[in-house]
Amino acid sequence: MAAILVTGGTGYIGSHTCVELIQAGYEVIVLDNLYNSSKVVLDRIQTITGTKPKFYDMDVLDRAGLDRVFAENHIDAVIHFAGYKAVGESVEKPLLYYENNITGSINLYQAMKKAGCKTIVFSSSATVYGDPEKCPITEDSKVGGTTNPYGTSKLMNEKILEDTAKPDPDWSVLLLRYFNPIGAHQSGLLGEVPNGIPNNLVPYIARVANGTLDYLRVFGNDYPTPDGTGVRDYIHVVDLAKGHIGAVEYALHHKGVEHINLGTGIGYSVLDVLHAYEKACGKTLPYKILARRPGDIAECYADASKAKKLLGWSAQYGIDDMCRDSWNFTLKNPNGIE
Ligand code: NAD
Ligand code: UFG
Repeated sequence: MAAILVTGGTGYIGSHTCVELIQAGYEVIVLDNLYNSSKVVLDRIQTITGTKPKFYDMDVLDRAGLDRVFAENHIDAVIHFAGYKAVGESVEKPLLYYENNITGSINLYQAMKKAGCKTIVFSSSATVYGDPEKCPITEDSKVGGTTNPYGTSKLMNEKILEDTAKPDPDWSVLLLRYFNPIGAHQSGLLGEVPNGIPNNLVPYIARVANGTLDYLRVFGNDYPTPDGTGVRDYIHVVDLAKGHIGAVEYALHHKGVEHINLGTGIGYSVLDVLHAYEKACGKTLPYKILARRPGDIAECYADASKAKKLLGWSAQYGIDDMCRDSWNFTLKNPNGIE
């Protein structure tokens, strides 16, 4: 079975993807500098799958180290998750974000080229569509208009990989545009552990549900949406991870570049999610309506038909499953993964 290098493999989406890869029979090699994750995740992957992946505690900024990883292993494909992802922080620290997300990625692509490994699945984001002209969003929609260095770094990575593949037909590049991943592994062993006060909706609601935050701040109820609150395409992280199995399989058997949305195709409002979480935790959760958050858009949800057609993949879990699994993880890991 093929060997897959997973950068950022101890992170939130990476760890769930390692589980699915191992369960599908792939050999998995994880590379992560543990900036936003813990080594304990490797033990938890072993508990779930029976296999502990080979691990490199390494920074993608370490160019010589990357060459060593490719020299020491026969790697058939790379799934590249490693990067910084906090939108607000990227506005405060643009150079840090560009160095990590652009220089680090270029290092990786150069090491791949040198080693003759030219198959890559990249973690892009629906943020590349900026404020979409229409929903559901198809992959041929206009990209650009990103409002922060994080989003711009995703768009730049897409461009860098497109340009890399242009003169060299040996490259196989899948640019996966994730919508809003939430939820956790059903075992309660893997999930998202935000640093400090969460920026994203579901991690914030989870803290209201467990009593560490007083109420949800709903950022605006005057959007042109059914209940006035922002609408997003929330996708269960296990569904998202499974999408990577289809993606890597496809990438290993094709050449060229594809852009693929990974979403459910369904939009839920902030209040829809809050009410689903109330059902999951069995409590009424307090909220207050505040002003809109700068940079937010009214609605964003995917046309997910290309993923179905090309990868044979579609999301299986609904919003109630996502909230149930988030709550289960929250209850079982009051201090995060440690
Ligand atoms: P995460 O922070 O949980 O995982 C990223 C991992 O990369 C972490 O374990 C971190 O330690 C590691 N890392 C960071 N910089 C590194 C470096 N220089 N060298 C080696 N390792 C490094 O984030 P996630 O939510 O799992 O996201 C994974 C990828 O998906 C990221 O590229 C992110 O931008 C992208 N993405 C995430 C979302 C989301 O909402 N979570 C949405 C769209 C795209
Ligand atoms: N929201 C609140 N209160 C909160 C947090 C969020 O009302 O405390 C609202 C937002 O206004 C928005 C919705 O909940 O309407 C979702 O917000 P998130 O912050 O959870 O997610 P975003 O859609 O803003 O951003 C996410 C990722 C980004 C990515 C973007 C586009 O966090 O990394 O999707 O793909 F760039």
